[in-house]
Amino acid sequence: MSTLTQLPAWQALQTHYHAEGQHLRLADLFAQDAQRGQTMCAQGAGLYLDYSKNRVNAKTLALLLELAEQAGITQKRDAMFAGDKINVTESRAVLHTALRAPQDTVVMVDGKNVVPEVHEVLDRMAAFAGQIRSGQWLGYTGKPIRTIVNIGIGGSDLGPVMAYEGLKFYSQRDLTVRFVSNVDGTDLVEKVRDLDPAETLFIVSSKTFTTQETMTNARSARAWTLEALQDEAAIARHFVAVSTNAEQVRSFGIDTAHMFGFWDWVGGRYSMDSAIGLSLMIAVGPDHYRELLAGFHDMDEHFRTAPLAQNLPVLLGLLGVWYNNFFGAQTVAILPYEQYLAYFSAYLQQLDMESNGKHVTLSGEQVDYQTGPVIWGQPGTNGQHAFYQLIHQGTKLIPCDFIAFVRPLNPLAPHHDLLMANVFAQTEALAFGKSLDQVLAGGVDPDVAPHRVFEGNRPTNTLLADQLTPRILGALIALYEHKVFVQGAIWNINSFDQWGVELGKVLASQIVPELQAEDEPDLHHDSSTNTLIRRYRAGRKAE
Ligand code: F6P
Repeated sequence: MSTLTQLPAWQALQTHYHAEGQHLRLADLFAQDAQRGQTMCAQGAGLYLDYSKNRVNAKTLALLLELAEQAGITQKRDAMFAGDKINVTESRAVLHTALRAPQDTVVMVDGKNVVPEVHEVLDRMAAFAGQIRSGQWLGYTGKPIRTIVNIGIGGSDLGPVMAYEGLKFYSQRDLTVRFVSNVDGTDLVEKVRDLDPAETLFIVSSKTFTTQETMTNARSARAWTLEALQDEAAIARHFVAVSTNAEQVRSFGIDTAHMFGFWDWVGGRYSMDSAIGLSLMIAVGPDHYRELLAGFHDMDEHFRTAPLAQNLPVLLGLLGVWYNNFFGAQTVAILPYEQYLAYFSAYLQQLDMESNGKHVTLSGEQVDYQTGPVIWGQPGTNGQHAFYQLIHQGTKLIPCDFIAFVRPLNPLAPHHDLLMANVFAQTEALAFGKSLDQVLAGGVDPDVAPHRVFEGNRPTNTLLADQLTPRILGALIALYEHKVFVQGAIWNINSFDQWGVELGKVLASQIVPELQAEDEPDLHHDSSTNTLIRRYRAGRKAE
């Protein structure tokens, strides 16, 4: 048995689950406590969390909080903020929190305060963003830049694209930002097909500057630019880089004077508020970008200082553990009722699944409990007309996070009231359902009635904020970063490496020459892979 499952709080939770927890019904819990909706809430960094519609009672919450204590959440959290090398498999500190630390903060890594460097890069980014936004930065032919194309993948794409869409309301509308990530040539071709190379700036964003997809897209973008502008000197006006790897940037042909750096203590999926956010900063401007950072920092401070029982990331993390490890729930749906957050669940997919999709503990032992869930979702109300049926009446337990805002950015009456009515209606319907008696009382044909029953008792969290501002978006992202941290800390896994993506990368690089070889290559894969490769080669030859 692992150390986690031997913890007294874990064992007590197991007993509590079997005796009581699995039988808890939201309808009863609300009937027993008229104040439940007022008391089971917490606030921090501008976010209000209603967690009353969860299958928990006072005992469940007390035991979950004990679990947090016994799993050493506070010590682990403090170690992260202090710059300890908690990413043990890569021997790295984990300091995305330093990216949004105010200028006078001191965060030491290997005997050096890293905060001044963070602000130095931010200032350089702000100066560059200002030049692009004002039209002062001219392309090779003397035209100002109108479109910025960020080339990156994973953490070097998902954060910027999510936040660019998320904060579009605040963006300078005569500039457009596009994002190219996929090695599928269609991505680049479609994104540049209507662009003028003389007015386009590429930001090549890659922590390592070795990622196959990004480097391939960057080379093709370079060729597209040169084909039009016919001079190597044009590259300096149309390409900048964001990376930790100055040597690779130089060898790609980008002057390091046009490189914006970050550090190995920033994980890819935690990097959107480093220089990786350059495209976003150009779009929304340095002031809004700094507001975004302030929101991240608000949540960092909340996570660092709020008591565990009122700590938003801790509560979300513990409730997730309750469903994941005791109820056996496999997935979590993220449902923002805000069109600007269309990419939020895709962003959280990488954040959560690359962080906590792990099968061994920090010391390398196989876990004997479930780790990270499958994260998915879409903005409401669209999802209601697609997959909510299964959440309401299917056989799977799918805890959901609803995210909504009191004041719309685009106040087009009556849209926002309708949107919000749907938020409240969905969480109510999921929690309380509709019994057979209620259905029959409505005069429904008894043969059809079972189909119209909603069992209810489907758990939800509701996160409510005043309005989608840069500051609130920062707080929301940091909330989920820290939720992921809390869960990883409980599961005693390394949330900050990603070895699981390596094998496929290695095999792909071996297969590329096999696809491109003139003569029939000697294939040594399994019979399925060999046959597929041969079939592909034959198809390409026949072209
Ligand atoms: O393949 C996974 C990954 O390493 C992610 O963790 C990372 O965000 C992404 O690739 C991109 O990496 P890079 O920024 O180094 O190009």
